[in-house]
Amino acid sequence: MPDLRYVPEQRLWLLHTPSTVYAVGLDDDDNVRHLHWGARLTEAQIGELARRAPAEGSSFDTAGGPEEFGAEGGARFGPPSLQVRFADGSRGVEWRYAGHDTDDGHLSIHLDDRHYPLRVTLHYRVHDDSDVIERWTSIANTGKKIVIQRCDSAAWTLPHRGSYRMSHLVGGWNSEFRLRRTDVPVAETVFTSRTGLTSHQANPWLALDDGSASEEHGEVWSTALAWSGSWRITLHRGPTGRTTWTGGHGHEGLTWTLDKGETLRTPVYAGLYTAGGFGAASRAWHAYVSRHVLAQPAETRPVLYNSWEATGFDVDEAGQTALAARAARLGVELFVVDDGWFGKRVNDHAGLGDWTPNPDRFPHGLRPLADEVHRLGMLFGLWVEPEMVNPDSDLYRAHPDWVLHTAHRGRTEMRNQLVLNLARPDTAAWAHAWLDRLVADNDIDFLKWDANRAFTEAGWPGHADPDRLWLDHTRAVYQIMDRLRADHPRLRIEACSGGGGRADLGILARTDQVWTSDNTDPVDRIGIQDGFSQLFPAQVMGAWVTDSPNVATARRTPLRFRFHVAMAGALGIGGDLTTWPETELKEAAELIEVYKRIRPAVQHGTAYRMAGDGTLSAVGYAYQDQFVVLAWCPSRPFGHDPAPLRLTALDPAAFYRDTESGAVHSGAVLRESGLLLDLPKGDHASAVVQLIRI
Ligand code: DGJ
Repeated sequence: MPDLRYVPEQRLWLLHTPSTVYAVGLDDDDNVRHLHWGARLTEAQIGELARRAPAEGSSFDTAGGPEEFGAEGGARFGPPSLQVRFADGSRGVEWRYAGHDTDDGHLSIHLDDRHYPLRVTLHYRVHDDSDVIERWTSIANTGKKIVIQRCDSAAWTLPHRGSYRMSHLVGGWNSEFRLRRTDVPVAETVFTSRTGLTSHQANPWLALDDGSASEEHGEVWSTALAWSGSWRITLHRGPTGRTTWTGGHGHEGLTWTLDKGETLRTPVYAGLYTAGGFGAASRAWHAYVSRHVLAQPAETRPVLYNSWEATGFDVDEAGQTALAARAARLGVELFVVDDGWFGKRVNDHAGLGDWTPNPDRFPHGLRPLADEVHRLGMLFGLWVEPEMVNPDSDLYRAHPDWVLHTAHRGRTEMRNQLVLNLARPDTAAWAHAWLDRLVADNDIDFLKWDANRAFTEAGWPGHADPDRLWLDHTRAVYQIMDRLRADHPRLRIEACSGGGGRADLGILARTDQVWTSDNTDPVDRIGIQDGFSQLFPAQVMGAWVTDSPNVATARRTPLRFRFHVAMAGALGIGGDLTTWPETELKEAAELIEVYKRIRPAVQHGTAYRMAGDGTLSAVGYAYQDQFVVLAWCPSRPFGHDPAPLRLTALDPAAFYRDTESGAVHSGAVLRESGLLLDLPKGDHASAVVQLIRI
């Protein structure tokens, strides 16, 4: 039972997680002050913190100690978590505490404005098996219209320290999830997506440490926003050292109107403190995602085949049947037909929106192919892009008003497509209806749900509150996915947005895996996967083995290396199997067998990232009596063999047998001296080692 405590004499709340404490308290003016987020402190110690007088500022500074949810108004000059304008044009908020509720790990602190009809509730939820704290906000109007200019999910505050460093993920299409570590400047640093999607360029995950944390040691505070549309996180370090960040859905400039009786609820913004370094932070996030986000965490993700890199838009029944036969021989468990199966979609210029099988390509519909795939013993999956339309489509010709658009402005096409406004109930109902029919009629087991462009001209002419669509579109996506899953309990969904443009805790609550990146080059992938693993567990990380030379980078790599890199996630094959020679097909089948042996550890184990000695990187997965190592060495200078890999997660008192060589190693030796890897000579060397505790 999660431990939430209210201390009435001191007006304090203490939230205990298994190894951390989070504490807030009310000041004399009913502002909720942040007191502590970190290692365990007792009630008396938190009380001592609460009694500390805040440092005196000048008449140019924010007054008082850090706030849990700083609203615009009064002597507050940092980035506001809440900005509202009331019907009479007045701005700013003055709080009156209106009570709190606790319910099985969920604390709600209610704050009313002293004059205006506004109630804000700060929500906290803790679990007894995780140090992650979930926070969100609800904002309710009990009177005249209120315009919301900003309403974040949560603000987070760090202890006052001399300096901080931030870790965040940057990138672009084909290069997502690149980890950056840099000092936090004395400034406001904005991380944001204005694309209507989570984005390739930034991910709403952020970690801070005082500059001394490493993979295995040190205090790390990290947060992740569960939202798949536009978002903004503003990190503020003041000249006196105060470090806070506030984040939520929507980017700057959007406003939402709240009418009488309406409540807006923000997405969850989750936070985690650990004293065990970046590795422990990732492991705690992985466990949280598995226990509290994913719908089917215990399920093993099947080895999939995807047609995209093999056939592009040239999809037809005969070609896919031939690929399916080869895929089945290799041991593939799920066959996914990508883009090009519907309407006039023979390239990216036409047909998007016309979701009936192309009669030239599938004369009898998809059913014969689906049946054949099932007969071959595989699940059947299909690519869809329900939020988008080509202007050259029957759908657009019938409903030109269904897309995002603004009066007197052009309709910017990207990849020759426009975005459907799923905030419209009629558009959302249409999308749900055809998806529901498609899944039922063709016995579809898996949908790859893609979204290949950002929002532009995101208006809704005639609508009283058009910016609402930035929230309601994403909510509609969630609702359609939730409904499909409820009505088709066997259906699994892959989140995709031109690769990893929509990877976040919000989409993962209704999808089973993410297509990590369109970049399938294994050397590039090592970095992409490392960044992805900061927050997300391996079981949701889609990773394909494709052809060599790689279509994006033209790099040539051995099949074994491509497999070993892709084995670090939910393995897939994406190459043109009709061109693979028999020797490669045989090798691929053997490597898929190896993956299936180590898969429980990769997908359900605990992951340890290991940096070798500069040329080598590796991940180890601890699971029951196993420890599996995947190690990659993209290139190395002459005469240089990587140093043995220290497996510090092993039990020093135990012995481990290598299932391949039969060699027995002592845990102490593997921890202290390390595992000697048997790497082939040359570039693109890799190894997989499965150790069993004996
Ligand atoms: C972008 C995806 O990331 C690719 O894997 C593929 O599905 C294409 N879209 C299809 O248009």
